[in-house]
Amino acid sequence: MLSSEFSLLQEDKSRLRRRMRRCRRDLSVFNRRLAARAIVRHVLHEGMIWRSRRFGLFVSHGAEIDVLPLINRLFAMGKSVYLPVLPRGLRQKRLWFTRLETDTRWVDNRFGIPEIAAGQGVRARDLDVLCVPLLAYDSHGHRLGMGGGFFDATLAFLRQRRHWRRPFLLGVAYACQRYDERLPCDPWDMALDAVLTEKGVEYFPNFRRFRCVNRLTSR
Ligand SMILES: Nc1ncnc2c1ncn2[C@@H]1O[C@H](COP(=O)(O)OP(=O)(O)O)[C@@H](O)[C@H]1O
Ligand SMILES: [Mg+2]
Repeated sequence: MLSSEFSLLQEDKSRLRRRMRRCRRDLSVFNRRLAARAIVRHVLHEGMIWRSRRFGLFVSHGAEIDVLPLINRLFAMGKSVYLPVLPRGLRQKRLWFTRLETDTRWVDNRFGIPEIAAGQGVRARDLDVLCVPLLAYDSHGHRLGMGGGFFDATLAFLRQRRHWRRPFLLGVAYACQRYDERLPCDPWDMALDAVLTEKGVEYFPNFRRFRCVNRLTSR
């Protein structure tokens, strides 16, 4: 890719990030609460959730959709819930995932996001379902993140896999974060298998592993 094309793409991404941040911020507190509860309801209709054992989630930050009710529900169902931990080195991007326990102690990471203070980390390949935050997604499952590239780096190994694709990548977002056109996409960007919003679960054409699951389109 030429460097001029590269910078144009970065400009497009930055512009879209600003726009999508705004749409999230404009939601009322009431609608945020409704959405946080609605995603739990929707996800429980998915056979994939019942069959899966190890879930990677994230700690919602800023205006991100609140996944705490979802974490609590999965935990109460006896599922293993793992949360991301940044790698030690500033240049490293591959996230670790540490299991949530009832007596978990927390510490803020360098972005001010709480992380589990101690515990044995696993890698994304050890999880059945990985819920990822995002700023925007499109009908192909392309994902625009906050710009850190942490999930792209964490999931880069999936490119080498033809058949066995674990974890299932589930974006979690507000429905207003759906971008109607095609999102600008870099070669390293990892696409989602599905996205969960307050309107339901939308599967994307690239999803393979859970093809047998009843498909729910956006409701
Ligand atoms: N596999 C990887 N290893 C290391 N760095 C990566 C990897 N994938 C992406 N990045 C870096 O992450 C940065 C941000 O990526 P980008 O896709 O724009 O952000 P986001 O996915 O958060 O929207 C890029 O500069 C890119 O070089
Ligand atoms: Mg990316």
